[in-house]
Amino acid sequence: MLELCNISTKYGQIPMLMEVSIKVDKGEAVCLLGANGAGKTTVLKTIISMVKPIKGEVFFNGQRLDLLPSHKVIQAGIAIVPEREGLFPKLTVENNLLMGAYYEKDKQKINHRMEEVLTIFPKLKERFRRNAGTLSGGERKMLGIGRALLADPQVLLLDEPSLGLAPALVHEVYAVIERIKKEKNLAILLVEQNALKALSVVERGYALQKGGIFLEGSSAELRENKIVVESYLSSCSV
Ligand SMILES: Nc1ncnc2c1ncn2[C@@H]1O[C@H](COP(=O)(O)OP(=O)(O)OP(=O)(O)O)[C@@H](O)[C@H]1O
Ligand SMILES: [Mg+2]
Repeated sequence: MLELCNISTKYGQIPMLMEVSIKVDKGEAVCLLGANGAGKTTVLKTIISMVKPIKGEVFFNGQRLDLLPSHKVIQAGIAIVPEREGLFPKLTVENNLLMGAYYEKDKQKINHRMEEVLTIFPKLKERFRRNAGTLSGGERKMLGIGRALLADPQVLLLDEPSLGLAPALVHEVYAVIERIKKEKNLAILLVEQNALKALSVVERGYALQKGGIFLEGSSAELRENKIVVESYLSSCSV
């Protein structure tokens, strides 16, 4: 469904991604692990065409995404929850959620999606008329995910959803990811440094180091891999 084929990118003259190939099928959850600066966010930015590859292609259901402007990629059915959620602090929770359905003109569809999202996130229902700027870190994360779901995407890209959250909230966010996975037939690409948590919800994964994929395999294979254990699992106990 979503496929990156031999993607290389540069920031100015500096090479970043090198020959990165990643596949995510319909209904499948896949993680992309990597330390700080490995290039994880760059992979997501390349998928949504914010970073243009110097080599390689990105396909979505056979269509080239890297040739499209970002808003067309979003309209094609890809939604992203960025690292810092990218919310509008002075807008209400309701209006932040509605921004996710920006390209949908059918009011009934929007209402239906809103109901669905508020069922998944009852806290957002309580905070519906409050400004997003007044929310806690965990609530902001939920709002970021909720907004992405209002686009009714086929692919959900999540950039480090556990980052900066207390362990209890990390559990809550992951319970929600698990639920979305079960209830919606989405493809999920989950970017994480928290390998243990990510590997608990996905079927497969890739590990990125210095802009290149150096490992890929099933969750079980990655969990047992010595390099993964030494690089990520030992430092993440949440
Ligand atoms: N717009 C940019 N211009 C120049 N260099 C950049 C830019 N964005 C990222 N970089 C550099 O590219 C490298 C990879 O960045 P990226 O954000 O993709 O890493 P990451 O794996 O998401 O890291 P983190 O875990 O810190 O979020 C880093 O060295 C970063 O400093
Ligand atoms: Mg990042």
